[in-house]
Amino acid sequence: MADPRSAYTQSVDFYAGLRPEELLCAYGSPLYVYNEAMLRLRCREMRDFIPLHRLKVCYSAKANANPHLLEIIRSEGLWVDAMSPGELLMNRRAGFSREEIFYVCNNVHSEELALAAAQSRIVSVDSLSQLEDFGLAAPGAEVMTRLNPGIGAGHHRKVITAGKETKFGINPEDIPQIHEICARHGLKLAGLNQHVGSLFMQPEAFLRAARRLLELAGGFSGLKYLDFGGGFGIPYRKYAGEARLDIASLGRACADLFGGWAVKNAYSGLFILEPGRYIAAEAGLLLGTVTAVKNNGPTRYVCTDMGFNILPRPMLYGAFHDVEIYRPAGESASGAAELPQAIVGNICESGDILHRDYPLPPIDKGDVLALLDAGAYCYSMASSYNQRPRPAEALIRPDGSVRLIRRRESVENLLDLIP
Ligand SMILES: Cc1ncc(COP(=O)(O)O)c(C=O)c1O
Repeated sequence: MADPRSAYTQSVDFYAGLRPEELLCAYGSPLYVYNEAMLRLRCREMRDFIPLHRLKVCYSAKANANPHLLEIIRSEGLWVDAMSPGELLMNRRAGFSREEIFYVCNNVHSEELALAAAQSRIVSVDSLSQLEDFGLAAPGAEVMTRLNPGIGAGHHRKVITAGKETKFGINPEDIPQIHEICARHGLKLAGLNQHVGSLFMQPEAFLRAARRLLELAGGFSGLKYLDFGGGFGIPYRKYAGEARLDIASLGRACADLFGGWAVKNAYSGLFILEPGRYIAAEAGLLLGTVTAVKNNGPTRYVCTDMGFNILPRPMLYGAFHDVEIYRPAGESASGAAELPQAIVGNICESGDILHRDYPLPPIDKGDVLALLDAGAYCYSMASSYNQRPRPAEALIRPDGSVRLIRRRESVENLLDLIP
């Protein structure tokens, strides 16, 4: 079998001996596919990368909230965060107990704050006004506040969540008001958190912001949780050999920083991280089928059934997902030279483009494509725009068996909420 491009998934044995087109035959195209062994590997890396016993890793369920994947993550000893009642439901469905859930929300109704207080270990609020609401919804409870450390990081301005241009967090100048509101409602300020942004590949901004949070935390007493958020990046450019984030050295730097601070400040609480992407992204990919190939002007368009409704990141952020090309059994790759090709979906928008001019071996109608690293912020962001139902999700188990972990939405499902 000579696929035009499959070296990466072969190198990690992603399909555990199965053929991608067999998966599409069984579950339909397009299809999200996850690999359990890879998910477990990333959980263990994150769980163990800081040699500090009082570190707790809370997987950020917004990256991918399929309860079957959450169950695997729970079985690796991670806790979880939630930021909506839907994520709470998925976390509970996966077996996480109240004590294992952190609720880190943004701009919610009082009813939601009350629900979160009842169903999670602790709630983090990110404005003075939400702290007031929380005080009314859950007087006397423990609470965390999200601070804006003034330092942001991330792959795109839309995912930088700290610094001057963001809606998130409370400015450190407002800390006196935090104390005042907590005192008025009998709230116990038990933790501080921050999240600088998503997908950093260099650790400096994360470490600078962590130092800043610790500096601020030195001014509080009675804290039990110091939460530094997530944002740990993964190398999306697999075929260009993009380097991985050096989490081993980041782990040592964090251990020195956190450990030293804990001793100096007699801190006996937990240090928390909230990674989402690092754990889930590489464990998933999206498979789809080439339905047509055509030229428009100088551009060769490879037309697929993978619209931006099911993989929104390229359209949202100009995000890059590397591509593999599989040729159905019996046919082999032509060996022809690479040429720039645009890979597009089936949605009625001219921005429905996965790649504009990616040099790849010539792709033919009927080929199966994989968009790699699609385990995080892909299915969880999918919609049924154009009334195209969302795909199924399948999980490849370590023994090579496959389990359907979410059924394909049907067109009839699109009528479910219509009275
Ligand atoms: C508060 C918070 N924590 C954690 C995360 C997870 O980020 P990532 O998936 O980049 O690790 C996010 C992502 O938006 C977030 O907003």
